[in-house]
Amino acid sequence: MTPIEDLETPAVLIDLDVLERNITRQAERARAADVKLRPHGKTHKVPEIGRLQLEAGASGLTLAKTGEAEVFADAGFDDLFLAYPIVGEDKGKRLLALSDRVRLRVGADSVEGAATLSGVFRAAGRRLEVLLKIDAGLHRVGVAPERAREIALRIAELPGIELAGVFTHAGHAYRQETQEGIETVARSEGEILVAAAEVLRHEGLAISEVSVGSTPTAAHAMKVAGVTECRPGNYVFHDLSQVSLGTCPISDCAMTILTTVVSVAAPGRAVLDAGSKTLSTDPLRPRASGHGLVLGGASRLSTLSEEHGVVEIGPGESFRVGQRLRIVPNHACVVTNLHDRIQAVRGGRVEAVWRVAARGRVD
Ligand SMILES: Cc1ncc(COP(=O)(O)O)c(C=O)c1O
Repeated sequence: MTPIEDLETPAVLIDLDVLERNITRQAERARAADVKLRPHGKTHKVPEIGRLQLEAGASGLTLAKTGEAEVFADAGFDDLFLAYPIVGEDKGKRLLALSDRVRLRVGADSVEGAATLSGVFRAAGRRLEVLLKIDAGLHRVGVAPERAREIALRIAELPGIELAGVFTHAGHAYRQETQEGIETVARSEGEILVAAAEVLRHEGLAISEVSVGSTPTAAHAMKVAGVTECRPGNYVFHDLSQVSLGTCPISDCAMTILTTVVSVAAPGRAVLDAGSKTLSTDPLRPRASGHGLVLGGASRLSTLSEEHGVVEIGPGESFRVGQRLRIVPNHACVVTNLHDRIQAVRGGRVEAVWRVAARGRVD
C-alpha cells in the first residue's frame, strides 16, 4: 500500500472513510424517508463506487449518457436510469441492445425525441420505459408543469414506449445563497412533481415513479409525500461548492487533489502543477470565488491555465517549491471526468486504484 507521499502529482485522492460515511448517510436518509435511492453515477463514473452504493441499499444507478450505461452494464449493473432526454434512432438501437441485459429507463421531454426511440422499440416488438422530465425551475431541459399533461398523453400513445413516471433535477438550488432558499427549492421540487404525477394519473396514465434529485435538495425533497425516488450524485464525494452552499462541512469532502508547488518565483504567489486539465474551470457555487481551496489553510487558487494553478497566498501562509498540497475542488463531478484513475486512500495510504471506467463517454 503506497503512502500518499510517494504518489506522483497531480493525483486525485478519495478518502475512503469519508466516502463510506457519505454513502451510508444518504442511504439511511432515503430509508427513513421510505424512498428509493438511485444515485447519479456521473460524479464518480467508477463501477467499484457504484457497487458500494448498491451494497448500502441503492436500488440502481442513474447516468446521463448511453455510453456511460454501456460501461456500467458491462460491469454487471442491471438497473439503470438515463436521466437525460435521449434523442436519435442511433441511440435507440444502442438502448435496445442495452435493454436485453439491464432494466433500463430513459428520460424524455418531447414527443419528437421519444418518437425517435419509439420506432426502434416498436420494430423489435419491445417497449422502452420512459420518464417525462418536468422543469421544476432550473430552466434547462424539461417541460413546464402546465404542459406536462399534453406532452405525456402524446408520448404515452407512441408505440414501443411506456410512460412510467416523471422526474426532475432542481439544479437551481445551486444558485441559492441561504439554507432557507435551498429548502424552498427542495420542497417545490417534490411538490411540483407530485402534482404533475397526480394530473397524469387523473388522465389514466400509470405513473409509478416520481423521481427527484440533487445533492443540496435531496434531504428535503425526498420527504415530500408522493416522491418515490431520489437521485443525488455529488454527495458521494461532496466538494467546495457543497460546503459554500451549506450542504456539508469540509470534513465531508472525500475528494482532494494532491499537487506539488512548482514555482514561488514572485511574492504573494505560488504555482501548483494542477491547472484546468486537472481541476476543470467550473466556478464555485453559489457565488464564483477562485478555483479550489488549499486544504488546512485559507489560500485559494485564483487563476488556472491548463497546467498551472496559481495560488494567491493568504495572510500568514507561505509555500516552498516541492511542497505537497491538497486542494478541495469547486466541482468534484467534472474532476473525475478528467482523470483515468483515482486513488482510494485510508490512513495516509493508497488502498485501491480505481479506473474511471465511464469517463469521456460523451455519446
Ligand atoms: C438529471 C440529474 N439528476 C440528478 C443529478 C444529481 O445532482 P447533484 O449533482 O446535485 O447530486 C444531476 C446532476 O447534474 C442531474 O443532471
